[in-house]
Amino acid sequence: MNARSTSRPHVTLKIATSLDGRIATASGESRWITGEEARTAVHRLRAEHDGVLIGAETAVVDDPELTVRLETAPVRQPLRIVLDSRLRVSPSSRLMKTLAIAPLLIVAARDADRTLAAQLESAGARVDFAPRGLDGLELDDVLALLKDTHAVDRLLIEGGGRVAASCLAAGCIDRIEWFRAPILLGAEGRAGIGPLALKSLADAPRFARVAVREVGPDLWESYERIS
Ligand SMILES: NC(=O)c1ccc[n+]([C@@H]2O[C@H](COP(=O)([O-])OP(=O)(O)OC[C@H]3O[C@@H](n4cnc5c(N)ncnc54)[C@H](OP(=O)(O)O)[C@@H]3O)[C@@H](O)[C@H]2O)c1
Repeated sequence: MNARSTSRPHVTLKIATSLDGRIATASGESRWITGEEARTAVHRLRAEHDGVLIGAETAVVDDPELTVRLETAPVRQPLRIVLDSRLRVSPSSRLMKTLAIAPLLIVAARDADRTLAAQLESAGARVDFAPRGLDGLELDDVLALLKDTHAVDRLLIEGGGRVAASCLAAGCIDRIEWFRAPILLGAEGRAGIGPLALKSLADAPRFARVAVREVGPDLWESYERIS
Protein backbone atom coordinates (compact mmCIF):
# COMPACT_ATOMS: atom_id res chain seq x y z
CA MET A 1 0.00 0.00 0.00
CA ASN A 2 1.06 3.59 -0.62
CA ALA A 3 2.14 5.73 2.29
CA ARG A 4 0.05 8.84 2.78
CA SER A 5 1.52 11.70 0.74
CA THR A 6 1.06 15.32 1.76
CA SER A 7 -0.65 16.10 -1.56
CA ARG A 8 -3.88 14.42 -0.57
CA PRO A 9 -6.52 14.91 2.10
CA HIS A 10 -6.97 12.75 5.18
CA VAL A 11 -9.50 10.21 3.88
CA THR A 12 -12.25 8.54 5.91
CA LEU A 13 -14.46 5.81 4.48
CA LYS A 14 -17.98 5.70 5.88
CA ILE A 15 -19.98 2.59 5.29
CA ALA A 16 -23.41 1.44 6.51
CA THR A 17 -23.97 -2.29 6.18
CA SER A 18 -26.02 -5.25 7.29
CA LEU A 19 -24.42 -7.68 9.75
CA ASP A 20 -23.17 -9.64 6.75
CA GLY A 21 -21.41 -6.63 5.19
CA ARG A 22 -23.95 -5.78 2.46
CA ILE A 23 -24.74 -2.16 1.53
CA ALA A 24 -27.86 -2.80 -0.53
CA THR A 25 -30.17 -5.55 -1.76
CA ALA A 26 -29.43 -7.14 -5.13
CA SER A 27 -31.75 -4.58 -6.76
CA GLY A 28 -29.78 -1.71 -5.19
CA GLU A 29 -32.22 -0.80 -2.39
CA SER A 30 -30.30 0.65 0.56
CA ARG A 31 -32.76 3.01 2.26
CA TRP A 32 -32.57 2.49 5.10
CA ILE A 33 -30.30 -0.25 6.38
CA THR A 34 -29.33 1.63 9.54
CA GLY A 35 -31.63 3.47 11.96
CA GLU A 36 -32.28 7.15 12.50
CA GLU A 37 -29.60 7.61 15.20
CA ALA A 38 -26.90 6.21 12.91
CA ARG A 39 -28.06 8.43 10.06
CA THR A 40 -27.88 11.49 12.33
CA ALA A 41 -24.33 10.47 13.27
CA VAL A 42 -23.48 10.37 9.56
CA HIS A 43 -24.78 13.93 9.11
CA ARG A 44 -22.52 15.03 11.99
CA LEU A 45 -19.59 13.24 10.33
CA ARG A 46 -20.32 15.05 7.05
CA ALA A 47 -20.30 18.38 8.88
CA GLU A 48 -16.79 17.61 10.16
CA HIS A 49 -15.40 17.16 6.63
CA ASP A 50 -14.49 19.57 3.83
CA GLY A 51 -15.66 17.18 1.13
CA VAL A 52 -18.03 14.22 0.77
CA LEU A 53 -17.43 11.86 -2.17
CA ILE A 54 -19.49 9.14 -3.90
CA GLY A 55 -19.24 7.05 -7.07
CA ALA A 56 -21.38 7.65 -10.15
CA GLU A 57 -23.41 4.49 -9.55
CA THR A 58 -24.50 5.65 -6.10
CA ALA A 59 -25.31 9.08 -7.54
CA VAL A 60 -27.53 7.47 -10.21
CA VAL A 61 -29.15 4.67 -8.15
CA ASP A 62 -29.71 6.53 -4.84
CA ASP A 63 -30.13 10.07 -6.19
CA PRO A 64 -28.85 11.47 -2.84
CA GLU A 65 -28.63 15.10 -1.74
CA LEU A 66 -25.42 14.48 0.22
CA THR A 67 -26.01 17.64 2.25
CA VAL A 68 -25.67 18.03 6.02
CA ARG A 69 -29.16 17.97 7.47
CA LEU A 70 -29.09 18.61 11.22
CA GLU A 71 -31.28 20.66 13.56
CA THR A 72 -28.45 23.19 13.83
CA ALA A 73 -27.23 24.20 10.38
CA PRO A 74 -23.49 23.59 9.83
CA VAL A 75 -21.12 26.56 9.57
CA ARG A 76 -20.40 25.43 6.03
CA GLN A 77 -21.75 22.61 3.86
CA PRO A 78 -18.98 20.29 2.60
CA LEU A 79 -18.15 20.18 -1.09
CA ARG A 80 -20.08 17.29 -2.66
CA ILE A 81 -17.95 15.29 -5.09
CA VAL A 82 -18.96 12.61 -7.61
CA LEU A 83 -16.47 10.37 -9.46
CA ASP A 84 -18.30 10.32 -12.78
CA SER A 85 -16.06 9.53 -15.78
CA ARG A 86 -18.91 9.64 -18.29
CA LEU A 87 -20.97 12.45 -16.73
CA ARG A 88 -23.96 10.32 -15.80
CA VAL A 89 -25.17 12.76 -13.11
CA SER A 90 -28.51 14.02 -14.38
CA PRO A 91 -29.25 17.77 -14.55
CA SER A 92 -32.53 16.88 -12.77
CA SER A 93 -30.83 14.92 -9.95
CA ARG A 94 -31.16 15.98 -6.31
CA LEU A 95 -27.44 16.82 -6.34
CA MET A 96 -28.11 19.43 -9.03
CA LYS A 97 -31.38 20.65 -7.49
CA THR A 98 -29.65 21.46 -4.19
CA LEU A 99 -26.83 23.61 -5.59
CA ALA A 100 -28.13 26.59 -3.64
CA ILE A 101 -27.52 24.62 -0.43
CA ALA A 102 -24.12 23.04 -1.12
CA PRO A 103 -21.53 23.14 -3.91
CA LEU A 104 -21.08 20.18 -6.27
CA LEU A 105 -17.91 19.04 -8.01
CA ILE A 106 -18.19 16.37 -10.69
CA VAL A 107 -14.88 14.75 -11.64
CA ALA A 108 -15.04 13.35 -15.17
CA ALA A 109 -12.55 11.60 -17.44
CA ARG A 110 -10.59 13.78 -19.82
CA ASP A 111 -12.42 12.19 -22.77
CA ALA A 112 -15.89 12.97 -21.33
CA ASP A 113 -18.46 14.83 -23.44
CA ARG A 114 -17.53 18.53 -23.14
CA THR A 115 -21.03 19.65 -24.15
CA LEU A 116 -22.51 17.73 -21.21
CA ALA A 117 -19.84 19.24 -18.95
CA ALA A 118 -20.74 22.74 -20.13
CA GLN A 119 -24.45 22.08 -19.48
CA LEU A 120 -23.76 20.93 -15.92
CA GLU A 121 -21.46 23.93 -15.33
CA SER A 122 -23.98 26.42 -16.69
CA ALA A 123 -26.49 24.95 -14.21
CA GLY A 124 -24.05 25.71 -11.38
CA ALA A 125 -21.98 22.55 -10.84
CA ARG A 126 -18.21 22.54 -11.25
CA VAL A 127 -16.75 19.92 -13.60
CA ASP A 128 -13.05 19.04 -13.40
CA PHE A 129 -11.20 16.34 -15.31
CA ALA A 130 -8.82 13.55 -14.27
CA PRO A 131 -7.04 10.76 -16.16
CA ARG A 132 -8.50 7.26 -16.30
CA GLY A 133 -6.73 4.57 -14.27
CA LEU A 134 -7.11 0.80 -14.18
CA ASP A 135 -10.33 0.95 -12.16
CA GLY A 136 -12.04 4.25 -12.90
CA LEU A 137 -10.51 7.67 -12.47
CA GLU A 138 -6.91 7.82 -11.25
CA LEU A 139 -7.30 8.32 -7.52
CA ASP A 140 -3.94 10.02 -6.87
CA ASP A 141 -4.89 12.73 -9.38
CA VAL A 142 -8.41 13.10 -7.96
CA LEU A 143 -7.13 13.42 -4.38
CA ALA A 144 -4.42 15.91 -5.38
CA LEU A 145 -7.06 17.94 -7.24
CA LEU A 146 -9.30 17.97 -4.16
CA LYS A 147 -6.48 19.07 -1.87
CA ASP A 148 -4.68 21.55 -4.12
CA THR A 149 -7.54 23.13 -6.07
CA HIS A 150 -10.50 22.73 -3.73
CA ALA A 151 -8.81 22.98 -0.29
CA VAL A 152 -10.27 19.65 0.84
CA ASP A 153 -8.13 18.62 3.81
CA ARG A 154 -10.60 16.11 5.25
CA LEU A 155 -12.52 13.92 2.85
CA LEU A 156 -15.40 11.57 3.70
CA ILE A 157 -16.01 8.81 1.16
CA GLU A 158 -19.57 7.50 1.31
CA GLY A 159 -19.40 4.63 -1.19
CA GLY A 160 -20.53 2.68 -2.96
CA GLY A 161 -18.71 -0.61 -2.87
CA ARG A 162 -16.62 -0.08 -5.97
CA VAL A 163 -15.31 3.29 -4.90
CA ALA A 164 -14.61 1.90 -1.43
CA ALA A 165 -12.65 -1.01 -2.94
CA SER A 166 -10.59 1.06 -5.35
CA CYS A 167 -9.67 3.52 -2.58
CA LEU A 168 -8.72 0.68 -0.22
CA ALA A 169 -6.70 -1.02 -2.97
CA ALA A 170 -4.90 2.27 -3.64
CA GLY A 171 -4.04 2.50 0.07
CA CYS A 172 -5.64 5.89 0.50
CA ILE A 173 -8.12 5.17 3.30
CA ASP A 174 -6.83 6.46 6.64
CA ARG A 175 -9.91 5.77 8.77
CA ILE A 176 -13.12 3.77 8.52
CA GLU A 177 -16.44 4.67 10.19
CA TRP A 178 -18.49 1.48 9.92
CA PHE A 179 -22.19 1.48 10.86
CA ARG A 180 -23.52 -2.05 11.25
CA ALA A 181 -27.23 -2.79 11.41
CA PRO A 182 -28.73 -5.96 12.87
CA ILE A 183 -30.22 -7.23 9.60
CA LEU A 184 -29.00 -9.78 7.09
CA LEU A 185 -29.14 -9.28 3.31
CA GLY A 186 -27.51 -12.50 2.10
CA ALA A 187 -24.87 -13.20 -0.50
CA GLU A 188 -26.99 -11.75 -3.29
CA GLY A 189 -26.91 -8.33 -1.58
CA ARG A 190 -24.40 -5.77 -2.87
CA ALA A 191 -21.02 -6.07 -1.18
CA GLY A 192 -19.99 -3.17 1.05
CA ILE A 193 -16.49 -3.46 -0.37
CA GLY A 194 -16.12 -4.44 -4.03
CA PRO A 195 -13.38 -6.75 -5.35
CA LEU A 196 -9.88 -6.05 -3.97
CA ALA A 197 -8.07 -8.59 -6.19
CA LEU A 198 -5.92 -9.75 -3.28
CA LYS A 199 -3.24 -12.28 -4.12
CA SER A 200 -2.78 -13.35 -0.49
CA LEU A 201 -3.96 -12.61 3.03
CA ALA A 202 -0.76 -10.66 3.62
CA ASP A 203 -1.92 -8.14 0.99
CA ALA A 204 -5.22 -7.41 2.80
CA PRO A 205 -5.61 -3.81 4.02
CA ARG A 206 -5.48 -3.94 7.83
CA PHE A 207 -7.01 -1.54 10.33
CA ALA A 208 -7.01 -1.24 14.11
CA ARG A 209 -10.32 -0.72 15.89
CA VAL A 210 -10.22 2.51 17.92
CA ALA A 211 -13.84 2.87 19.08
CA VAL A 212 -17.19 1.06 19.25
CA ARG A 213 -20.46 2.75 20.24
CA GLU A 214 -24.10 1.74 20.25
CA VAL A 215 -26.26 4.08 18.15
CA GLY A 216 -29.86 3.00 18.68
CA PRO A 217 -30.13 -0.56 17.36
CA ASP A 218 -26.89 -0.27 15.35
CA LEU A 219 -23.18 -0.46 16.13
CA TRP A 220 -20.72 2.25 15.07
CA GLU A 221 -17.16 0.98 14.81
CA SER A 222 -14.16 3.23 14.05
CA TYR A 223 -10.92 1.95 12.61
CA GLU A 224 -7.54 3.56 11.87
CA ARG A 225 -5.19 2.31 9.23
CA ILE A 226 -2.15 0.36 10.39
CA SER A 227 0.70 1.84 8.39
N1 LIG B 1 -25.22 1.48 2.64
C1 LIG B 1 -24.33 2.39 2.26
O1 LIG B 1 -23.56 2.92 3.08
C2 LIG B 1 -24.26 2.78 0.82
C3 LIG B 1 -23.52 3.91 0.49
C4 LIG B 1 -23.38 4.22 -0.85
C5 LIG B 1 -23.96 3.42 -1.83
N2 LIG B 1 -24.69 2.35 -1.47
C6 LIG B 1 -25.25 1.46 -2.52
O2 LIG B 1 -24.17 1.05 -3.34
C7 LIG B 1 -24.64 0.78 -4.65
C8 LIG B 1 -23.70 1.42 -5.64
O3 LIG B 1 -22.38 0.95 -5.42
P1 LIG B 1 -21.45 0.45 -6.61
O4 LIG B 1 -20.29 -0.26 -6.02
O5 LIG B 1 -22.30 -0.27 -7.59
O6 LIG B 1 -21.00 1.79 -7.33
P2 LIG B 1 -20.24 3.11 -6.80
O7 LIG B 1 -19.01 2.71 -6.05
O8 LIG B 1 -21.20 4.03 -6.19
O9 LIG B 1 -19.83 3.79 -8.20
C9 LIG B 1 -18.93 3.14 -9.04
C10 LIG B 1 -18.75 3.96 -10.29
O10 LIG B 1 -18.02 5.15 -10.00
C11 LIG B 1 -17.27 5.51 -11.14
N3 LIG B 1 -15.86 5.66 -10.78
C12 LIG B 1 -15.04 6.61 -11.32
N4 LIG B 1 -13.81 6.50 -10.84
C13 LIG B 1 -13.81 5.45 -9.98
C14 LIG B 1 -12.79 4.86 -9.19
N5 LIG B 1 -11.53 5.32 -9.16
N6 LIG B 1 -13.12 3.78 -8.44
C15 LIG B 1 -14.39 3.30 -8.45
N7 LIG B 1 -15.40 3.83 -9.18
C16 LIG B 1 -15.11 4.92 -9.94
C17 LIG B 1 -17.46 4.40 -12.16
O11 LIG B 1 -18.51 4.79 -13.04
P3 LIG B 1 -18.13 5.56 -14.40
O12 LIG B 1 -17.28 4.60 -15.19
O13 LIG B 1 -19.43 5.87 -15.01
O14 LIG B 1 -17.35 6.76 -13.96
C18 LIG B 1 -17.95 3.25 -11.32
O15 LIG B 1 -18.77 2.33 -12.03
C19 LIG B 1 -26.05 1.33 -4.71
O16 LIG B 1 -26.96 0.25 -4.65
C20 LIG B 1 -26.18 2.16 -3.46
O17 LIG B 1 -27.51 2.13 -2.95
C21 LIG B 1 -24.86 2.01 -0.16
